[in-house]
Amino acid sequence: MKHLLSAGDLSRDEATLILDTAEQLLSVAQRPIKKLPTLRGRTIVNLFFEDSTRTRISFEAAAKRLSADVINFSAKGSSVSKGESLKDTALTLQAMGADAVVIRHHASGAPHRLATSAWTKGAVVNAGDGTHEHPTQALLDAFTMRSHLGDLEGKNVTIVGDVLHSRVARSNALLLDTLGANVTLVAPPTLLPVGVETWPVETSYNLDASLEKADAVMMLRVQRERMNASYFPSAREYSRRYGLDVARMNRLPDHAIVMHPGPMNRGMEIGADVADSDRSVIVEQVTNGVAVRMAVLYLLLGGATEGENA
Ligand code: CP
Repeated sequence: MKHLLSAGDLSRDEATLILDTAEQLLSVAQRPIKKLPTLRGRTIVNLFFEDSTRTRISFEAAAKRLSADVINFSAKGSSVSKGESLKDTALTLQAMGADAVVIRHHASGAPHRLATSAWTKGAVVNAGDGTHEHPTQALLDAFTMRSHLGDLEGKNVTIVGDVLHSRVARSNALLLDTLGANVTLVAPPTLLPVGVETWPVETSYNLDASLEKADAVMMLRVQRERMNASYFPSAREYSRRYGLDVARMNRLPDHAIVMHPGPMNRGMEIGADVADSDRSVIVEQVTNGVAVRMAVLYLLLGGATEGENA
């Protein structure tokens, strides 16, 4: 593995290796053990052109817990606001010596552009590109599901809401299929993307019909900032038909878990009392994100000689 650009690029063995490695690193992520020296002398650049709380901070924590040096770049306050391009930004950071670049960008495909260019010599990790993919989110979601449900082969995962704008949904659909799970996407017709019939999923417009067989239900953030009001039902109507409230949560099987990648719109796609309930693993997803991102950085960079990737 030279880069991590798409969850769909991972074979079952590669995905399982990342999840197994993350399991071994979880105690370091949770901090009873302080740091591992594995990536000492390596430099990881967090290149964020879009806002982030969880992903940016957890990649920083992951890199530091492996003893790497971290450079955090945020487009806000940088020369991007003066019109500097992705190419020139990447070349500038490469000149400072980056062994890996973790990139979040509003343009779908930006990480692929970077990985196939000569602008950076390091490994490229997609930390979310437009409405396309967010592979480390899917990995941390699979890790969380696996820790509660065991092997994901044959498990039923229901992903609900704004699939149209969700890079999380696409990456989860691809990875969960690779790991043998059955994915059902539930959304209003206007919030399913064109071409969804080519995804390895079932689709439904009816949340209530999908609850009783779900082992995990993942609520997606309604991305109002990417929407045209004309195709979005009112917040009240959306919440009534597609929101997870306590009554719906109580119809899930006893063992089923409630997930959300964050940030949440409490009261819209998920009730506050559901988000804070015993069934919710939302905070655990964040903790697991550090371990999974440590595993990804370790497998991309660990043990390789300077200038090479594992
Ligand atoms: N889940 C996720 O990507 O959250 P952030 O936007 O806060 O990184």
